[in-house]
Amino acid sequence: MVEEHLGLEAWDEMLAQVEPASGGSYTAAATYDDEELLAIVGYLSERTGKPAAELIHDFGAYLLGAFHARYPRFFDGVTAKEFLRNVGGIIHAEVRKLYPDAGVPSFEYEDPGPDRLVMLYESPRKMCALAEGLIHGAGAHFGVSIELDHPRCMHRGDDHCRLELRFGDGRGTASP
Ligand code: HEM
Repeated sequence: MVEEHLGLEAWDEMLAQVEPASGGSYTAAATYDDEELLAIVGYLSERTGKPAAELIHDFGAYLLGAFHARYPRFFDGVTAKEFLRNVGGIIHAEVRKLYPDAGVPSFEYEDPGPDRLVMLYESPRKMCALAEGLIHGAGAHFGVSIELDHPRCMHRGDDHCRLELRFGDGRGTASP
């Protein structure tokens, strides 16, 4: 995302400033210290003047597109709501099989109505901003607006984040 939005030179300049312990040649199969991501986001926040949470959110929306390119089968034949409902039980479970060291969050669900879904997010990494971005990215991918409320948050001392979704097409049934 940095390369696409700011250019390869900006990425190299950033690595020279941040000096991540791994050296910064990131690949999908390896595992990296969370501190590296946070240091990169901190640097970009200073450089762009955008708050870190906003950058992480926007990265989530971008990441959804990258996941679609890499793992299209999770997106086939499902609605936006079904896709999001599958993240906890199916998608991240598959990710754990492929990458046993992956640090994926836990999601529990409530299903209060056809146009609604509640996702209960819990993770020691507290990356609810990334989750929100991924959810908005899913809305864009499936062509449905998703309104999001976040009445409980781990960053405000709650033991989980409560993400309340409302699908704009009434059911989350739009297909891409
Ligand atoms: C095809 C879709 C998806 C795939 C393949 C996928 C896969 C992954 C992978 C590989 C990681 C990183 C684990 C690591 O490197 O340690 C991750 C983390 C994460 N995923 Fe997913 N994911 C998908 C969809 C979603 C969606 C839609 C959401 C949100 C609703 C979500 C929420 C998160 C969050 C918040 C993290 C950060 C780690 C944490 O909070 O503990 N994912 N996912």
